[in-house]
Parts: sequence; C-alpha cells; structure tokens
Amino acid sequence: MTTQNNHDSASPSKTFYLETFGCQMNVHDSEKVIGTLVQQGYRQVEDEEAADLILYNTCSIRDKAEQKVFNRLNDYKKLYRQGKRFGVLGCVAQQEGERIFERAPFVSLVSGSASYRRLPEMLIQIEQGATRVTGLDDRQTEETFETEFTARTNPHRGYITIIEGCDKFCAYCVVPYTRGKERSRTSTSVLAEARRMADAGYTEIQLLGQNVNSYRDSEGKLSFAELLAAVGQITGIRRVRFTTSHPRDFTRDIVEAIDAVPSLCDHVHLPVQSGSSHVLQMMQREYTREQYLERIAWIKAARRPISMTTDIIVGFPGETPEDFEQTIDLLAEVQYDGVFAFKYSPRPNTPAVTMPDSIVDEEKSARLQILLERQREIQRINYNNHVGEIFEVMVEGQNAARAQVIGRTSQNKTLNFTTSQPIMPATGNYLPVRVTKSFPNSLVGEAV
Ligand code: 5AD
Ligand code: SF4
Repeated sequence: MTTQNNHDSASPSKTFYLETFGCQMNVHDSEKVIGTLVQQGYRQVEDEEAADLILYNTCSIRDKAEQKVFNRLNDYKKLYRQGKRFGVLGCVAQQEGERIFERAPFVSLVSGSASYRRLPEMLIQIEQGATRVTGLDDRQTEETFETEFTARTNPHRGYITIIEGCDKFCAYCVVPYTRGKERSRTSTSVLAEARRMADAGYTEIQLLGQNVNSYRDSEGKLSFAELLAAVGQITGIRRVRFTTSHPRDFTRDIVEAIDAVPSLCDHVHLPVQSGSSHVLQMMQREYTREQYLERIAWIKAARRPISMTTDIIVGFPGETPEDFEQTIDLLAEVQYDGVFAFKYSPRPNTPAVTMPDSIVDEEKSARLQILLERQREIQRINYNNHVGEIFEVMVEGQNAARAQVIGRTSQNKTLNFTTSQPIMPATGNYLPVRVTKSFPNSLVGEAV
C-alpha cells in the first residue's frame, strides 16, 4: 500500500517515497514515520523516480511477504546510480539485519520498528553520506514510538498504538523477534491522543497492538477493558475497534465493556490458529480448544450480537487429517463472519523452524481450499440472515459505476447501499441502512 502525505508543507527539496507491506501495525507505523520525515524537512512523493530517499516498510510474517521487498529492491536498484538512497524498515529489516547490506549493497538504512524513535538521527547520518546506518539494537527497549506528527491518511477513522512488541513466542511466529519485547503506552498518553483525534473530527478509533489484551498501563491506572471503555466515552467518538486479541489474555471484562459502552463495536477478532488442542500445544498457544470456546461463549452471551472473525494456519508441522477436521468443525461451531487462513510458512529464528515441515505444499493448499469453501458457505448463510435488518453504517466512499455508497457496519461488514436523496452522503457520515441482499462477504441495502 502506498501511503500519502496529507500535510501541507512549504515544498521542501528533500523528498521520500514510502511503500508499506504487512499488517495494520505497519500501516500505522508508516503514518508515524511519514510524520517524522515531514518534521525533518522531507516531502513525500508518489513514485520511486521522484524521490531522493526510497523506503520500504516490510513484513516477514510469511516467506511470500518477505520476498516482496527483495523484488522491489531489485526492480529499483538502478536508481542508486542517480544518487537515490534506499532504506529497509520494519520486520524484514529487523530479521535480516546487516545481511541486507550484503544482499543489496545499495541499501543505506536498515531499521526495525523498535528503533524508529531514533529515525531523525539516522536520517542525518544518511544525509551526511553514511552508507550503512542501522537501527537494530532496540528490541529490549522499554520505550514506545510516540509522535504528535502522525500523518494519518483518513480524516474520520484512525489508529492508535497502545502496545508494541510481543512476548508470546508462538512457535511459528517471527513477531517477537522482529518487534521486540512487549511495552505498553500509558493510558494518559493514549487518552490524550484519542482526545486530540476527537477534537480534530475523528469519529472512529482503532486501538492497535500485536496483543492488545496484554496491555499493562505502566501508571497502573487502567486495565485494557477500562481503557477501551474510556476511549469509547470520549465526546465525538462513535466507534472503537481493537486488534489483535490473543485468546489466552482475552478476559470477560472486555465483553462487559462492549455491553456497557455503545460505541465499542460489535466485533471481536480472536485468532484461533487451529481447532485441535494437540496442534495448539505444538504451536505453544497456551490454550486448549475448550478454553477458546469458553471465550467464544462469553462473546455469544453479550447483550448485542457480536460478530467474530479469526486467523487460521493450516499445515502446521504434525497437523494430522484429524486435527484439520477439528478446525473445520470449529468453524461450524463458532460461526465466524470472516476467516483469514494461511498455509504454514517456516520462519527464521522461530522454534517451529526446527520441526520437520512435514506436510507437502499440495496438501497444505488442499486443506486451505477445503477450509475456505466451508467458511464461504457459513458466511453465505450468516450474511443472508441480515436481510431485512437495519444497521447504522459509516460512509467510506462512493462506487460511482454502480451508483452505490460504500458503508461499513459496527460489525465490520461492508454494506453497499443506494439512496433516494439527490446528493450522495459524504464520506465519514453515519446513517441507517436496510439490508436488501447479501453475498458471503458483503451486504447490499438502501438508506432508510
Ligand atoms: N505461517 C503462516 N501463517 C502465519 N501467521 C503467523 N505466522 C505464520 C506463519 N509462520 C498468521 C497467523 C497470524 C496472522 C497474522 O498470520 O494466523 O494470526
Ligand atoms: Fe508482518 Fe507481523 Fe511484522 Fe506485521 S508484525 S509487519 S504481520 S511480520
């Protein structure tokens, strides 16, 4: 995704291009990096050719994601001879470290996310001609990366990081190695940022962290559920979302907060990874299928219907056909409204990389296909059950070709609708829409 700068500046001569790969944390890190660069006198441009400094904010969650940055570097390395400088940021930077300089000698900057606080000094070093600048040694830091210059691209809906890093060490996952140890912001600082956003006209806030449930306010004031409720009670904030939750730390008071505070959205993303306790144990997830289903039961017992989505890995080392069948079974039991499913990809440094990757790729693909088909059928029925219901949507844009307005419900479902009004509602507006038709991934309706 290309992030654009929406700050007006007096056209500084130093320019940069930034492309972002990976998760919402990376997208939001890029918003902070852009703000920092603009503050340092840089101007963002929209293609590599127009930039003095070319940055890639990278993802290494699966091998395919990691390869993308090396493809990009290969495509654009010819620009080095024109005096352009390259920087690799994010998870691949942290994972590969100085090896990136060997693989791509024209790269001048390699920095993991735990070092972004030091970007201004690293930029100065590059400007002074340094060719191997690194930010790789901060994974044990207690500090978080906070800046008041965050260049948010959407004026209605914005992210706030509440916790960085991860201490979970799931057997398959690079994140604890790429983002470093867990560190929470203070609730005072999170709430101040949320209030500033509300004052600036934002109505939706998404709280971000690799594992938001292990949020620990270093001032000891608020639990995660209390922080969630407090953000939801800020005047002007109509929707609050949070991602990602870890089942092990998911507590009942989160559901109680959703019950108590109407602005907390009717949606929980709770990655299960596998429906088999045996596989969960090999994955070091620290919960069983039964414990996971207990959390799902809390969510289902809420006063309003809460939509649930999940992440699943198929083909983890040692996953038997019976284990996989238990995952399929879990889909039907939970009735998710969305599933992000992935074939297991062995990652450097992780404990699972030493387990034999025993399931051949064709078998992983076959399991993934079966899973996605089953889930599609579940969603077809779930989404169809909404026909006739009225939801409040936030307007996200217009689809002129179809004369439709694009909306999103609190449950995080896309609801495209028509309106009899002569003027289409503007992006950021909220209005009630009746569902008239459904697909497995979206709803269609008309404004009421
Ligand atoms: N292989 C495949 N999928 C993975 N994920 C994390 N690590 C891996 C891996 N090594 C998936 C998990 C996680 C999501 C963000 O990516 O499902 O929840
Ligand atoms: Fe990719 Fe994980 Fe890093 Fe996000 S935290 S960019 S998903 S490796």
